[in-house]
Amino acid sequence: MDKYTHGHADSVLQSHRWRTAENSAGYLLPSLRPGQDLLDVGCGPGTITVDLARRVGPGRVVGLDVSAAPLDEARALAARSQVEVTFAVGDVYALAADDDSYDVVHAHQVLQHLTDPVAALREMARVSRPGGVIAVRDVDYAVTTWFPADPGLDSWLDLYRRVARRNDAEPDAGRRLLSWAHAAGLRDTVATTTAWCFATPGERSWWGNSWAGRATGSAFAEQAVAYGLATPAELDDVAAAWLRWAAADDGWLGMLHGELLIRV
Ligand SMILES: C[S@@+](CC[C@H](N)C(=O)[O-])C[C@H]1O[C@@H](n2cnc3c(N)ncnc32)[C@H](O)[C@@H]1O
Repeated sequence: MDKYTHGHADSVLQSHRWRTAENSAGYLLPSLRPGQDLLDVGCGPGTITVDLARRVGPGRVVGLDVSAAPLDEARALAARSQVEVTFAVGDVYALAADDDSYDVVHAHQVLQHLTDPVAALREMARVSRPGGVIAVRDVDYAVTTWFPADPGLDSWLDLYRRVARRNDAEPDAGRRLLSWAHAAGLRDTVATTTAWCFATPGERSWWGNSWAGRATGSAFAEQAVAYGLATPAELDDVAAAWLRWAAADDGWLGMLHGELLIRV
């Protein structure tokens, strides 16, 4: 069983809940049509899944996550939004689905957390119908950049990448998606990038507080200490750096994401 670096603390889900089809899956939207069957793997709290379901209805939409932790919230969102989605526990390495059963198989910020993203892509391809599309998007942490400079944020980035690598995951996944698809034998691809930018007081408060919380109270924080990569005092310094950044009138952060559409 792979170790998921972030875990599902509220400080983590607070960040995932902001995600929409527009801000996180824009590269996929032109491929969507009403009536397509869509599988969202590693769906987390399901905000993207529900948005995608609105676009492919009346197609069948399933959101799977290896952890049950975020799924009640995902179900409640779908019910509130009056959108038909089935949310269930499921593992991307062994999907409980027949061969050729979905038109669209989507995974947002999931492959970076896996020890074997190539096996995951092969399994996603297995359940995709011929002519269907696989859509994957992952950040590339190494090129995350911000203003103003702060040694505490340098420590955060270095620490995050070391904890993820200690889990045999790949924090700089964005640049690797194409190579993983090729290794899985998938060659009909379109690679793109888009970025998130957080620079308004509201965005800084939300993102900075999320990461300050994650630095002191999440699976990432527990793993950093358990692996001997940081002390609690160093994690406090990382949290303080995020709060300084959130309070900076000219604070700015950019995160680059790799995206890949794969025709099956
Ligand atoms: C960074 S979150 C992304 C959640 C959602 N896709 C989003 O963007 O808001 C990654 C999710 O992948 C899930 N995950 C990790 N390994 C998985 C696996 N082997 N199979 C299915 N889901 C997995 C985690 O539990 C977590 O909820």
